[in-house]
Amino acid sequence: MRAAPGRHVRLPVLTIEKLVPGGAGFCRLPDGRPAFVPGALPGDRVRVGSLADKKGYVEATAFELEAPGPERVEPPCAIAVACGGCDWMALPAAAQLRYKASLVAEALARTGRLELAAPPVVVSAGDPLGYRLRVRLHVDEVGRVGFFGQRSREIVEVAECLVVAPELRVAMRTLAELAVPERATLGEYFSALDLRAVPGEGGVELELEPREGVRMRERAVDALVNALAASARVGFSTRRRSGLRRYELPGGGFLRVPSGGFTQVNWAVNAALVAAVVSGAESRGAKSFLDLYAGVGNFSVPLARAGLTGTAVEVEAGSVAALREALREQALTGLEVIAGDVTRALGRLRRTRQGVDLALLDPPRAGAKDALAPLIQLEPKTIAYVACDPVTLARDLRRVVDAGWTLGAVQCFDMFPQTHHVETLAWLERSGS
Ligand SMILES: C[S@@+](CC[C@H](N)C(=O)[O-])C[C@H]1O[C@@H](n2cnc3c(N)ncnc32)[C@H](O)[C@@H]1O
Repeated sequence: MRAAPGRHVRLPVLTIEKLVPGGAGFCRLPDGRPAFVPGALPGDRVRVGSLADKKGYVEATAFELEAPGPERVEPPCAIAVACGGCDWMALPAAAQLRYKASLVAEALARTGRLELAAPPVVVSAGDPLGYRLRVRLHVDEVGRVGFFGQRSREIVEVAECLVVAPELRVAMRTLAELAVPERATLGEYFSALDLRAVPGEGGVELELEPREGVRMRERAVDALVNALAASARVGFSTRRRSGLRRYELPGGGFLRVPSGGFTQVNWAVNAALVAAVVSGAESRGAKSFLDLYAGVGNFSVPLARAGLTGTAVEVEAGSVAALREALREQALTGLEVIAGDVTRALGRLRRTRQGVDLALLDPPRAGAKDALAPLIQLEPKTIAYVACDPVTLARDLRRVVDAGWTLGAVQCFDMFPQTHHVETLAWLERSGS
């Protein structure tokens, strides 16, 4: 945690009561105002430094740790605090899972007024380190490469990151050891880069994001790409669009993934999530499905392979093309793919897909607010909602429950170990169906 700057009024030592959605520690100031303290853990005794006033609460922008809480451990990563990407790394793995379950239960109760009989099970799989299949790094004008620091756009240089897949670690070390001329080229022409490992393949894809308004000098960039390619297989999609990558699905079959297409970051946990969706569909006897926010077909392809027929809706053109290609290659004919916005597509599907067995939603972080009215009008028997934000999930579930569905099983998946982030799968059944 950062030392508090000297000019502020020093507040008394406070004890962190719990963790809240967003991952921060929570306590109350002596005047009763709720305070969020990012980086603080339950039981920590903290002296809060500067405070930012928010609507209805304050947020500590710095604190000093006076005494650690009972579960706090030394994080395995030396830059965990400065970097901030792994905000719960100072908690043991079992405690992380317990807190994720209670955050989800609390969000459902507070925001959704939905009480669970018990906190949800959090499924974990694979290694809680070395799991991330893709990572975005930022580059400054002098070619320093790293993550943005905690709530700042200041680059924290990282030569090593413990949560990325082993092949990405090699690629990151290559970047950290770039010779001076290549480093200068990197800083001059590029502002960010994405590294991706293809599951089971061992290679690394690199995409460089050009700096705005700068004209490329092709020879300099070629020298840079060659230097990087010495240790990492390079797909330079900003200039030469590389082909579709093949991602094997653990249950059989494969996805096709274009440059920049969305994929889940943790393949072992994704396998568990996909298996839960497919077995949930099968156990309910579902024959037809809608896959809304389908991406490259992470759920559609396994559901189609399981013999269900369906419609996938996705707005991103590259992902739509990749999904169509994967279906063609695997001769999966029972899936229609609609390119476009989910809310609009649902309006049109009303005529043909009324009473569909299963509607699966996996929206971005902001949730599926606008899509809920046309979804409800379609009257699917079962709704399965996959969410990465428990609070927007709770908001959307309340709406669906008010429209006549009953919340059933809720399961969580530890897609992002070492962080407060958690993926949730919630099942809802239409009353009377
Ligand atoms: C969280 S990702 C899930 C993708 C996929 N279900 C998976 O598991 O890999 C959300 C997807 O929704 C797509 N998307 C975002 N807004 C959309 C909209 N309004 N209509 C259709 N698709 C949308 C994004 O392009 C992205 O592929």
